[in-house]
Amino acid sequence: MKLVQLIYCSQVTGRLTLDTVQAILNKAAKNNPSRGLTGFLAFDENNFIQVLEGGDSMVNLLFGSICRDTRHHGVHLISFREIEERQFPHFAMGDCNLAAVDSSSIERYVDSTVFEPTRLSAESALGLLQALEAQRRAEAAPNAL
Ligand SMILES: Cc1cc2nc3c(=O)[nH]c(=O)nc-3n(C[C@H](O)[C@H](O)[C@H](O)COP(=O)(O)O)c2cc1C
Repeated sequence: MKLVQLIYCSQVTGRLTLDTVQAILNKAAKNNPSRGLTGFLAFDENNFIQVLEGGDSMVNLLFGSICRDTRHHGVHLISFREIEERQFPHFAMGDCNLAAVDSSSIERYVDSTVFEPTRLSAESALGLLQALEAQRRAEAAPNAL
């Protein structure tokens, strides 16, 4: 099986509510494990940025559904590449509300005060998502080694 990693960003339709985020995360928790998909979703009230990892067909299939989802628009592919091993194996779909994150952890990757994920290079987008995921794991398991 060809393992791939896909990163995209998009704009929220209207203003994002926590109910919408919860509905998306519930769907991901239900669907992703049986499809061998893992990843991470970061959001603020206007934007999503998500990384999906798994088999080539499953990632493409889900990305097709995500592109048609009316809860967001302007889906912008940042990176699609084959990987040897997962960089986001820990969550069916981890999540992070960027509004709750210390802005210094975002500023390293974003060169403007307004978060505009379409301007991120593939490298910065990956770095940002990895940093947020690591932070999330530390919160989820504060005593983990
Ligand atoms: C930003 C965003 C991220 C999403 N991420 C996932 C995901 O990781 N897994 C998933 O199954 N659906 C995800 N969805 C929902 C899909 O677009 C689609 O509604 C869902 O996969 C349909 O699943 P169903 O056929 O079981 O109803 C996401 C939607 C949005 C807007």
